[in-house]
Amino acid sequence: MNSIFTEGILRGHVAFVTGGGTGITGGVARALAEAGANVALVSRSLEHLEPAAKAINDTRGGNPTVREGSSRATGEAFAVAADVRNPEEVQKAIAATVEHFGKIDVVVNGAAGNFLCQAEELSPNGFGTVVDIDLKGTFNVCRAAFEQLKEHRGQILNISATLHYLGTPMQLHVSAAKAGVDALTRNLAVEWGRYGIRANAIAPGPIEDTEGMKRLVPEPIKEKLRQRVPLGRFGLIKDIEAAAVFLCSDAASFINGAVLVVDGGHWLAANRLL
Ligand code: NAP
Ligand code: COA
Repeated sequence: MNSIFTEGILRGHVAFVTGGGTGITGGVARALAEAGANVALVSRSLEHLEPAAKAINDTRGGNPTVREGSSRATGEAFAVAADVRNPEEVQKAIAATVEHFGKIDVVVNGAAGNFLCQAEELSPNGFGTVVDIDLKGTFNVCRAAFEQLKEHRGQILNISATLHYLGTPMQLHVSAAKAGVDALTRNLAVEWGRYGIRANAIAPGPIEDTEGMKRLVPEPIKEKLRQRVPLGRFGLIKDIEAAAVFLCSDAASFINGAVLVVDGGHWLAANRLL
C-alpha cells in the first residue's frame, strides 16, 4: 500500500516520541519520520530505542531497505533514554533533543505500562505505577516541552485507549490513567490553545502484534474478541500511524482537544449481546 499522504508532509517538524522504540508508538515514530519529520525516540531502554532509530536512519538517502509505501524524504531518528516518571530525566531528554535537532514542535506520549489484574488484587504500588507512567509521565513530558511547543506553536498527541469508556474488568489502573490522559488532553487544548499549541489524542482499539494485545488478550479469547469488532478485524499498527500523521499535519490545523477513536467500532459494540 502506498502512503496516501503527500511526500514530505511533515518535513521541518521535530517530534519527541515516548514509547517510540516499540509497538504502536514505534510505528507512529517511523511514520512521522517517513513523512519527513526528525524524531527523538524516548523510553527507558536503549535496547529498544537504538534498533528502532537505526531502522529509520537506514531508510534515509534512498537506501534499498525503504519500507513499502514509505517516502524517500525520511527524517532522522535519534535515541535518548529516559523514564517518563522521572521529571529530571525527561527534562534532560528534551534538552538533548533540542541540542540535536534544534527544536521540538511535536510531542507524542505513547509510553505506558499494563497488565491484567483484578481490582481486589491490585496493590497500591501496582495502581500507582501505571498512573505514574501513563498519566503523570504524560504530564511530565508536556510540561517539560512547553517552552519549545510555545515557541514553535507545536502540538501534543497522546496515545489513549477506549478501556475507560465502559467498565473493563482487570483494567482499573489503566482505565483510571487513560481517563486522566483524556482529561489532560482536553484541558491542555483549552489552556495552551492560546499559544497556538494543539493537543489531541488517539484511542486505539485492540491492535494486532503488539505488547498490549499479548498482555491483555489471552489466545483462547482472541477470536471471540475479533468477532466483536464491527469491521471484523483487529487494528493494525498502520491504522494508528495514518491517524497520527493526519493529526500532526496541517490538514488537522483546527482540530484541538479531540480524542480520535481508531478501533473499527469496537467499543460501541462491545456490550452487545448479539
Ligand atoms: P509497548 O510496545 O509495550 O509500548 C509501551 C512503550 O512504553 C514501550 O516502548 C516502553 O519502552 C515504553 N515505556 C514503558 N514504561 C516507560 C517509562 N516508565 N518511561 C518511558 N517509557 C516507558 O505497547 P503497545 O501495545 O504498542 O502500546 C503503545 C501505546 O498504545 C500505549 O500507550 C498503550 O496504552 C496504547 N494502546 C495499546 C493498545 C493495543 O492494542 N496494543 C490498545 C489501546 C491503547 P521501554 O520498555 O524501553 O521503556
Ligand atoms: N499483576 C499485578 N501486579 C503487578 C503485575 C501483574 N502482572 N505486574 C506488576 N505489578 C505490580 C508489582 O507487583 C508492583 O507492586 P508491589 O510493589 O505492590 O508488588 C508494581 O506493579 C510495580 O511493579 P514493577 O515490576 O516494580 O514495575 P516496573 O516499573 O519495573 O514496570 C510495569 C512497570 C509493571 C508496567 C511493566 O509491566 C512494564 O515495564 N511495562 C511496559 C510495557 C507494557 O506494559 N506494554 C503494554 C502497554 S499497553
